[in-house]
Amino acid sequence: MQSAREAIEQIRGRVRIPATTGNRCPACNRALIFHEGREFCFQCEVIAKEDAELAKAAIADRERMKLKQLEKQFAAHSFINPSLKEATFAKYNPPTESLYKAKAAVMGFVMNFDKEKPQNLLLAGSYGTGKSHLARAATIELMQQGYSCMFISVPKLFAKIQESFNKNSSFSESQFISYLQSVDLLVIDDLGTEHYGKDTDGESWGHTKLFEILDGRAGRHTIYTTNLVEEALEDKVNGRNFSRILDNTEIIYMVGPDFRRKRK
Ligand SMILES: Nc1ncnc2c1ncn2[C@@H]1O[C@H](COP(=O)(O)OP(=O)(O)OP(=O)(O)O)[C@@H](O)[C@H]1O
Ligand SMILES: [Mg+2]
Ligand SMILES: [Zn+2]
Repeated sequence: MQSAREAIEQIRGRVRIPATTGNRCPACNRALIFHEGREFCFQCEVIAKEDAELAKAAIADRERMKLKQLEKQFAAHSFINPSLKEATFAKYNPPTESLYKAKAAVMGFVMNFDKEKPQNLLLAGSYGTGKSHLARAATIELMQQGYSCMFISVPKLFAKIQESFNKNSSFSESQFISYLQSVDLLVIDDLGTEHYGKDTDGESWGHTKLFEILDGRAGRHTIYTTNLVEEALEDKVNGRNFSRILDNTEIIYMVGPDFRRKRK
């Protein structure tokens, strides 16, 4: 024989009227309901949670919009010296065997570009051998293919982050850094020419920022250019940054004359 209470519970189950328990929520003082063997507050556990999820989705949407805006703002090659704006592969005429191979390697990097198979390049060599030119050429080519690319020197990168601290800045530090982390190809130009103040533990503000960017780019393509040979670069950027720079990275040594002198 079913008790009256059980009968009511059964009807409630069918029409989905939640049973109340007579207890009240300690947080919001609404009546607690009993469902599937447990007592809970519909307001706090269901409605508030959904609201929080909606708010999170709205924030994510806003972040995406901001990134799109940032893309417009940053990607308009505003960080590239005029001499490199039109630096295509076609305009690079290698004067030495080493530079011929370097051009072929960077073109190979572009040809094999695959978001699923990230690969990095470190272009190392002395002044005016065309490191920035070839890195820029890679971004021109890949942007034509629809990839998002960013070319920035490390000193400019640090200056941009510092600019974001200004309260009138049109972008925040976190927006800028997440943009750098998210582009399909980031060229980090002139690595090693930046200045790092040294804190007591040998880790400065710049080291931390570089780490944040490099670590956040794991799984994406990055091209580095530098004048420094390996040990000097390691000293400069510090060990844990250096280790990330060399992770999955082909090093291309570029040996040749200074093109800037030749032109004069
Ligand atoms: N082989 C080349 N053919 C045509 N232009 C070149 C060649 N090499 C360099 N250039 C041009 O010379 C200038 C200097 O080259 P680039 O900036 O790429 O040198 P770099 O190796 O990055 O030098 P640095 O170490 O000083 O940054 C650029 O304007 C570039 O377009
Ligand atoms: Mg350069
Ligand atoms: Zn509640």
